[in-house]
Amino acid sequence: MCKPLGLVAVIVLISACASLEKMQHSEQPSLAQAYLPHFLMGAAIDEDSYKTHEALLVRHYNSLTTENEMKFEHMQEVEGVFTFDTADAMLDFAEQHHMAVRGHALVWHRQTPNWVFVDDSGKVVDRAMLLQRMQSHITEVMTHFKGRVDYWDVVNEAIMDDGTLRTGEEEAEDQRSQWYAILQEDYIAEAFRMAHAADPEAKLYYNDYYNHLPARQDAIYALLKGLLEKGVPIHGVGLQCHLRMVQAQDPSHEAYYQSPENLEKAIKMYASLGLDVQITEMDVSVYEAGKTYTPDTFYTPETLGPGPIELQSKRYGEFFAMFRRNSHLISSVTTWGIADDNTWLSEFDSGRQDFPLLFDLEHKPKPAFYRLMEF
Ligand code: XIL
Repeated sequence: MCKPLGLVAVIVLISACASLEKMQHSEQPSLAQAYLPHFLMGAAIDEDSYKTHEALLVRHYNSLTTENEMKFEHMQEVEGVFTFDTADAMLDFAEQHHMAVRGHALVWHRQTPNWVFVDDSGKVVDRAMLLQRMQSHITEVMTHFKGRVDYWDVVNEAIMDDGTLRTGEEEAEDQRSQWYAILQEDYIAEAFRMAHAADPEAKLYYNDYYNHLPARQDAIYALLKGLLEKGVPIHGVGLQCHLRMVQAQDPSHEAYYQSPENLEKAIKMYASLGLDVQITEMDVSVYEAGKTYTPDTFYTPETLGPGPIELQSKRYGEFFAMFRRNSHLISSVTTWGIADDNTWLSEFDSGRQDFPLLFDLEHKPKPAFYRLMEF
């Protein structure tokens, strides 16, 4: 007798909480609504967060990106066996709420199973075989999602910080690109051609990080220009925008140039080629670049305090002011997650908790959210 009643009580409580959360969010002005005249507001979702953060998503966002669920290792972990169910359910949610979808990512050096690059005996495959595998992956995946994905990240992170192309020879193993090692530079052009053939309606993007670094800007610009000159079908460029709290003081630090002005320069350069620009993975870590943190100085919800959160709000505000100034060049801005209880920055083994998003651990709007609504 007691058990089912207990269960009913729990269910009633959960749905009461969910509707209370929905009610609270519906009282807030909507981020997506406020930014309608400028660009789409997107969030990365994972297979759980679109359920646990539903109220926030529905209220504040009109574009979604799957954080991991459409990467190669999720789509085709085993050769020839495609698993679409998880991503399909996420796209059902997007459709139900009339949200745009960014597909992420078809060709990348990470989160790609090793079988792609070797044969049955473990020998590295030749060019023809890898091109065939690339084509089969791109074609199967894009055909499956045809009409449901508006923008595709076709190639992700092909450039290194010094502006050279990422090769198979990079020092750190997780930095090496097997795509480049076997196919050389034209793996990029080939991927775009295959993507266009698979879904001629889809908008195709090149996506990369640290666009504030001058060497990267020049290299990405040259890469995009070269592709366009060769007639390769490419429609836009994604700037990831993983930001640190303040610019580093040391010129050799990767976050040294991380200012709105330097990012604006990149946006204008790429847009001058006639390409659309999207901000694809924004977050602002509360840890300052160039400072050393140890477990006893890692922030916790108790030690965080208003200081870093105010500084973060200012940083979000400055970048968004620049995005709004350039909104004729930018079609969407996506944060890499929704609320601080679900961010990749807290998922590293270091045990360092981060608070990089617009909503807090309880899904309440942070000062950065309110800052973005003031314009
Ligand atoms: C990250 C995800 O957020 C993590 O959950 C995963 O463990 C690793 O990948 N650049 C990208 C994204 O293009 O795909 C990465 O996403 C973050 C950096």
